Amino acid sequence: MTATAQRNAFTNACPDEKAVFPRHVAIIMDGNGRWARERNLPRTEGHRKGVETLRKIVRHAAKRGIGFLTLYSFSSENWTRPEAEVSFLMGLLQRFVQRDLAELDRNNIKVRIIGERDGLSPEILSLLDEAETVTCDNSGMVLTVAFNYGARNELTRAVKSIVEAVVRGEISSEQVDEAMIASRLDTVALPDPDLIIRTSGEQRLSNFLLWQAAYAEFFFPSLNWPDFNEEAFDDALAVFAGRERRYGGLSGQAGG
Ligand code: IPE
Ligand code: IPE
Ligand code: MG
Repeated sequence: MTATAQRNAFTNACPDEKAVFPRHVAIIMDGNGRWARERNLPRTEGHRKGVETLRKIVRHAAKRGIGFLTLYSFSSENWTRPEAEVSFLMGLLQRFVQRDLAELDRNNIKVRIIGERDGLSPEILSLLDEAETVTCDNSGMVLTVAFNYGARNELTRAVKSIVEAVVRGEISSEQVDEAMIASRLDTVALPDPDLIIRTSGEQRLSNFLLWQAAYAEFFFPSLNWPDFNEEAFDDALAVFAGRERRYGGLSGQAGG
């Protein structure tokens, strides 16, 4: 099956279908620091190596026909790390955009950034804008980078924007429903994640996609992110294919 056919085949998945193939895979790329510590290297080496994994996995996911890949790259809580580590991570982001954006563009990948923009430096903001603008007309895999992202922050911004619209008289409180809330989240143009992978053996969301993960399947490989690879990604797809998603219904139920 071609990548496009694979993508289309799952666009209209019904609740009672086997999971088979995820339309949207989201990854919490964790374990860079532990990878480095195990090798007596500074944590920054783990982050550097982690960017190599990121490159590999983006290429591989596109090759596998994943429609939407979302990567958690920096959380709103990661600012609490030592300043030297934070500025190293900002430098990595800058180099990634400078070195990899052209290849992403050549591969027809559309980059989107989610997360809080307020408070980011003008340099970082212009990098994020550049990544989105250069690739905005592409029609291949959507690569969403969660940067300065925290789901509680995202939900708070969404609630504020709804309240403001009510106060302005543009909508009434009766009109507020799940679809409206979803439409005010940073992920407005994305389907909910079908599969969330977190590397390094940790089994928590750490403020990632709390609303969107309502019916996601989870996979927790023990590999640290720098050791994660194409084979491990395929393992995750295979595990997903064996899952049965019921969305609160009953096993084998055919559309009510
Ligand atoms: C993930 O690896 C990268 C970021 C959070 C930016 P960590 O840096 O969290 O690595 P560990 O969890 O300390 O091993
Ligand atoms: C989550 O990992 C954030 C990213 C991977 C970018 P953390 O390492 O920050 O999460 P905790 O602190 O272990 O929950
Ligand atoms: Mg971590």
